[in-house]
Amino acid sequence: MPRLAPLGNCHPGLRRCWHPVARCSEVSDRPVRVRLLGEAWVLVRVGGTLRAFADRCPHRLAPLSIGCSHGDTLACAYHGWRFDGEGRCVEIPALGSGGAIPPRARLEAAHGVTERHGMVFLAPEAPLAPLGDVPEDEDPSFSAGDLPVLTAKASAGLLADNFLDMAHFPFVHASTFGAEDPVVPPLTVSREPWSFLAVTEHEFLNREDPGVAAGIRPLVQRRRVTYRVVAPFHLVLRIDFLDAGGTNVIGFFLQPESEESCKVYSTIWRDDLEGDPGRMAAAVAFELRVVEEDLVVQQAYDDLCLPLDMTAEIHTKADRSTVELRRLLADLVVAAESVPRHDGDRGAAGRAAEPAPAV
Ligand code: FES
Ligand SMILES: [Fe+2]
Repeated sequence: MPRLAPLGNCHPGLRRCWHPVARCSEVSDRPVRVRLLGEAWVLVRVGGTLRAFADRCPHRLAPLSIGCSHGDTLACAYHGWRFDGEGRCVEIPALGSGGAIPPRARLEAAHGVTERHGMVFLAPEAPLAPLGDVPEDEDPSFSAGDLPVLTAKASAGLLADNFLDMAHFPFVHASTFGAEDPVVPPLTVSREPWSFLAVTEHEFLNREDPGVAAGIRPLVQRRRVTYRVVAPFHLVLRIDFLDAGGTNVIGFFLQPESEESCKVYSTIWRDDLEGDPGRMAAAVAFELRVVEEDLVVQQAYDDLCLPLDMTAEIHTKADRSTVELRRLLADLVVAAESVPRHDGDRGAAGRAAEPAPAV
């Protein structure tokens, strides 16, 4: 089997996946441009329905994101062509009423666009993996806190790798939570076709527990750490404090914008803050410091891609979860290259064979 190329941010296999592209609150009836895998998309609510189109008007290829919506249509800012929610051109002002609209005057729609746990997700082509979920987001015992969206000169693959990596804690996070035993506990990994779980239950020193200071509980306590990964970059860490009680959940969702740029969406869910907004703000600020510590390392890489050839790096038993990430993503890119695309997957690309109109 030929060696797999490293996974860069614009790998074509990533077109067949769901990716976060915005927070829901950022998208209204005013078009907004986002970048994904080196391509520009426009997000807009047309007649109240979320839509995603390639950010390119079919007339003179002007960005639609500088246009505006009019009722149930999206209007291009250049010559005023109007498009309905399905992307069909319904009006060309320069032709007057009754003017013939060319059949190719259609926008290129994303294969899918949807909203989940506060984010807009876009799939350029038919996705191989289902969109990941965060059950705690629906659980009323949890409250959520969003970190600010960060933009980094980084690789989505390497950022995902870093999120799963437990061996860097004492070194990268020495100023926050990293003063821990450097030995990584053994993880049990269970794989589904496009996702995996990595779980460990181990003892740790719970210095945050007020019950320790009160003499109710010992300093050495047990916790269960569960990583949930859905390809490509939908990652969730859940920590259950088995003695002190309470659960912390950290979501980490990556938008590969271009070869050199990534957006990081992170949200935390907590069931132990009694709905106190001040405590949630403090927890969000702490998590932001942790992510910023990670970005110092991640932005120092020259080669912004994740190796998928297993001989390109050295792996140890402490790297169990990050090895599984490489296997998952390798399977994804192989499948993306071997599964034929269906007609219509690429919107306007499927219409490229239509004859040009005589004008
Ligand atoms: S470029 Fe959009 S209407 Fe002409
Ligand atoms: Fe980290």
